[in-house]
Amino acid sequence: MKYFKILGGAKLSGEIKISGAKNASLPIIASTLLGKSDITLTNVPEVVDIYTLLELLEDMGSTFSFKDNMVTINNNIKTTKAKYDIVKKLRASILVLGPLLGRYRKCQVSFPGGCAIGQRPVDLHLSALEKMGANFIINDGYIDATAPNGLKGAKIVFDKITVGGSENLIMASSMAKGTTILSNVAIEPEVVQLCQFIRDAGVDIEGIGSNELKIVGTEGEPLEYKECKIISDRIEAGTYLCAAGITNSTIKLNNINHNLLSMVLAKLEEVGFSFTTDEDSIVIHKAEQLKSVDISTSEFPGFPTDMQAQFMSLLTQCEGTSAIEERLFENRFMHVPELNRMGANISLNGRVAKISGPKKLSPANVMASDLRASSALVLASLVASGASKVDRIYHLDRGYENFEKKLKNLGAKIIRKG
Ligand code: UD1
Repeated sequence: MKYFKILGGAKLSGEIKISGAKNASLPIIASTLLGKSDITLTNVPEVVDIYTLLELLEDMGSTFSFKDNMVTINNNIKTTKAKYDIVKKLRASILVLGPLLGRYRKCQVSFPGGCAIGQRPVDLHLSALEKMGANFIINDGYIDATAPNGLKGAKIVFDKITVGGSENLIMASSMAKGTTILSNVAIEPEVVQLCQFIRDAGVDIEGIGSNELKIVGTEGEPLEYKECKIISDRIEAGTYLCAAGITNSTIKLNNINHNLLSMVLAKLEEVGFSFTTDEDSIVIHKAEQLKSVDISTSEFPGFPTDMQAQFMSLLTQCEGTSAIEERLFENRFMHVPELNRMGANISLNGRVAKISGPKKLSPANVMASDLRASSALVLASLVASGASKVDRIYHLDRGYENFEKKLKNLGAKIIRKG
């Protein structure tokens, strides 16, 4: 199994380019199911999750090419069955449900199941689609979905903000007959870009960027998409900011707008770092002293749950006791025992972790449990006094493009083995 060997202690310096966002690419790739001609997307990160979704579309009949961060997809699907063998590798495969049902009126999509960070149900996706006239039967682990007369516009209020649920419903509504009002929708930048992509293809969408959307469907008429450049990955950028933070180094990130990271930058400022920003870059300057901070994860524009693990690694080096409340995923603390094995002092009580620092971290063999936990363990290894091994990095390859290459460019001593 592949792993990283990391020799801690090096300061970081220099600059790197932030890749396109995985979480913006996935719904936009799923939405190509609504399109009629070749669709070209640029700035798409070449990571495993993207290949998995493309494999799923290919299995249904679409063709694609993917080179130099540019994907061209020709939607030519022959079956609307999203098979378990592929769906089980990528939870976000559920994003094909809304477009398949909206355009083709029936589909079978395997249940994605839970994952290491929690149960991750899709009940809100299903109940919202039911309001639009969909019927579901659960059969052999599959969601057997039909809408014999096509989906119809409806008023939907999400009980809870869901990124994937919002995206599924935006895609479904754009094919419906009539107008759909979606309230309490997610306003993550990735959701906003999906709306813009669909609007630019001719669908009437009002309220983009707000928590209420009004979408006038095309009654199944396929969309003529324009070429789209995927937005930059704010979580990847935040991860490198934490890498600079934990090693107390100055680095520059290019191809990233600081407005995508306001809350993360605010918390890093509270720790003691300062920034120079322009439209397309962020420089993080080292701090005189690292201070503890409290964090509570929430929906955008709050502190992202996808940055929680990396920030926790940083907080092990801060003076005082920090608290992190994880409000989105019940089991997203799998990195805690591993960080403690490296000498951190973190206690857990339900959804709250208390981190007492600063603690000198020592090298260890540690195991990654999910995508962001993997990068958190790499960050901790950057300051451990010796050689650490981070195992199961296939989690990390799902979502970080050229991870060790970028860290090496900044001066980290990291190599991939196995
Ligand atoms: C997306 C992101 C993921 C991020 C998460 C929260 C992608 C591909 N993934 O995941 O990286 O961590 O948003 O920002 O973009 N929920 C329900 N019922 C549902 C749907 C969700 O109870 O039907 C709950 C979830 O268990 C969770 C919360 O709602 O507690 C938010 O989940 P959601 O926003 O749907 O996350 P994902 O779209 O799966």
